Amino acid sequence: MCGIVGYIGCQQAYPILIKGLHRLEYRGYDSAGVALLDPNGKLNIYKSRGKVSDLERFCESKDISGTLGIAHTRWATHGEPNDINAHPHFNESGSLALVHNGTIENYAVLREALEEQGCVFRSQTDTEVLVQLIDYIRRSSGCTLLEALREALKQVVGAYAIALIDAEDPDTLLAARRSSPLVVGVGKDETFIGSDASPIIEFTNQVVYLRDDEIAIISRHKPLQIIDANNHNTEVDIQTLRLSVAQLEKGGYPHFMLKEIYEQPNTLHDCIRGRIVDGCRVQLAGVQDNAERFLQARRVVIVACGTSWHAGLIGKRLLQELAGIPVTVEYASEFRYSKPLVGPEDVVIAISQSGETADTLAAIKMAKESGAFVYGICNVVGSSIARETNTGTYIHVGPEIGVASTKAFTGQVTVLAMLAVALGQLRGTLSTEEAAEIAADISRLPDLITEALQVDDIIKSLSSTYTYVHNFLYLGRGYNFPTALEGALKLKEISYIHAEGYPAAEMKHGPIALIDNELPTVFIAPNDDLHEKVISNIQQVKARGGSVIAIVTKGDTAIPAIADHVIEIPPVAECLSPIIAAIPLQLLAYHIAVMKGRDVDMPRNLAKSVTVE
Ligand code: M6R
Repeated sequence: MCGIVGYIGCQQAYPILIKGLHRLEYRGYDSAGVALLDPNGKLNIYKSRGKVSDLERFCESKDISGTLGIAHTRWATHGEPNDINAHPHFNESGSLALVHNGTIENYAVLREALEEQGCVFRSQTDTEVLVQLIDYIRRSSGCTLLEALREALKQVVGAYAIALIDAEDPDTLLAARRSSPLVVGVGKDETFIGSDASPIIEFTNQVVYLRDDEIAIISRHKPLQIIDANNHNTEVDIQTLRLSVAQLEKGGYPHFMLKEIYEQPNTLHDCIRGRIVDGCRVQLAGVQDNAERFLQARRVVIVACGTSWHAGLIGKRLLQELAGIPVTVEYASEFRYSKPLVGPEDVVIAISQSGETADTLAAIKMAKESGAFVYGICNVVGSSIARETNTGTYIHVGPEIGVASTKAFTGQVTVLAMLAVALGQLRGTLSTEEAAEIAADISRLPDLITEALQVDDIIKSLSSTYTYVHNFLYLGRGYNFPTALEGALKLKEISYIHAEGYPAAEMKHGPIALIDNELPTVFIAPNDDLHEKVISNIQQVKARGGSVIAIVTKGDTAIPAIADHVIEIPPVAECLSPIIAAIPLQLLAYHIAVMKGRDVDMPRNLAKSVTVE
C-alpha cells in the first residue's frame, strides 16, 4: 500500500512526480503529498487529504519549482487520512522530508523515547517517527545524513520503502527498502524512484530493483551507488523493462477495470504463448528445470490472498484431478501464523498478481525456512515474490491497474491449468491424449472469452434491476464454488453491496434462511457433472421466492425454464469453466457499481497491492 515516487535531475520535478502519483494511485488514495527543494534551497511541502487531483488543486497557487523532489499517495495505516498524517513527513526544523510505504512496527516505543528527548510530533503516523529519529541521530552524533539513516534503519522493526531529501544537500536523494518494493530508474543525467516501474517507464526503461536492506545513494553528479546493510557497495544490476506507456492508460475505456475485462482474450493469449507446444504438450520452464522436485512432491500447499486465493482453490482441484497430488490451500495471512508442517518434500505454490502482498511474502519466507520448494505464480515481473520464490511462471497479463482483479484471475487459473497438465504429463497421471485434449482446450480460451464478452449488453440491462438490492448470494459447485466466491468478492469490493459466496449444496445448512424476494442469487451453473444437482438447488431458491440469475452453458434448456435471468457462456471443458464463467461475473459487478456511482477503479478503503499486514 502507498505509492512513492522521487526525482532528481535537470527537469522540473513536480510534473514528473504528479504524473507518477497518478500512476501509483491504485496503491492508495487516502491522501497525497509532495516535497520539492526550490532553487533557493527551501523545502516546500504540500499535502492534501483525498486523491492526487486534490493535491494538484491545492498546489495550483504554490511554488512548485525544483529539480529534486519526492511524493506520496497514501493508504492509511497509522492515523486517519487527513492533511497532517499525509506524507511527506518532516523533522522539526522542516529541513528533512521523507515518504514511506510500509509499517514501522515499533514506532510507539521509538516515539516515546524521542519525546523523552524533547521531540515534538505533529502527526499520528509511524513515518514521522522515522524522520524524527534520523534527524535526532544526526543532530546528537554529528554524523552524516547517510550514517543517520543507516543507524535509524537498524533501530526500526517492520517494512519500509522510503525516500529522503535534505534541504542542505540539493544534489542527493536517498532511498531504502525492506520488504516493500522500490525501483530506481536510471536515465541520462536524471534518476527516478518509484514503488513500481509505472512512474518511470515514460522516461527510461533502465531500472534497478532495490533488494532488502539496501540503500540507494542517488546523486545529481555521480553514478548510482547502492550499499547493503553492512555498508558495502553492491552491484548495480540494471535491467531493461518490457513495459509500454500505453499499457498504463485507459485506452478509451471509462475505467481500467472495463479495459482489463475486455483485454482478456489478448492477455490469455500472451499467458499461453510458447507454453503449449505443437498444440498438444504443455511446457513450463519452471517445471522442466525442477522435474525431480515435482516428481518427489508429497503434496502441494498453495498460499495466496483474496482473488489469488480463489484461483488457488481452483488450482487445488486441477492439480488433484490432473496431476494426482494432494493439495491444501491456505490464506497466506493464516499460514504465516500457524504451524503448517511443511517440509523439504513439499512444494509451496505462492500466487500473487502484484508479487508484493506482505502476507504472501511472509508465507513464502516461512516455507523456504522449512525447506519447502517454492513456486511463484505472479504477474509483476521482478516483483518481490517473483524474486523470493525458487522458480515459477509469470501470468504475463500486463499491468492490472483497477483495484478489482480481473485479468489476473483468469491468467492465474490458466497458469494453474497449464501447471496441472505439465505435472500430469510428468507424473504419468495424464495420458498423452488426455494432456493433448486439455492443452487444446486451453489454447481455445482466448476465443471463448471473446464469445463470453458478447453478453455485456444483456448484463448491463440486467444490472439496472439489481442496483438497489442490499445483499446477493453467489452459489456454485465443484470447480465453480471458487468462482462463486470470486463473483461475490468482485461485487462487494466495487459496489459495496454485501455478497456471499457459498457452495450451492451447503445453502441448505444455513444460508437458505436468508432467501426471500429481496435476495437475488447468482448461480454459476454450466453443464458439468453436477449440473442436475445445481438445478435442484435453483429449485430450492425459487420455491422460497428468491430470484435467480444463472450463468449457463449455451444451449441449456432446463435452467432457462426456471431462472429469472439467464446469461449464456460458450461450452468449455469443466476444469476450465471458471475462466469463462468469471467474465459475466466481472461485468455484472462492474455495471452495478457504475450504476451506483461507485469509484470502480479505486473503491473506498482498498488498495491494489497490500504491502502491510
Ligand atoms: O497482488 P495479490 O494477488 O497478492 O493480491 C491479493 C489480493 O489483495 C487481491 O486479489 C484482492 O483481493 C483484489 N482486490 C480482489 O479483486
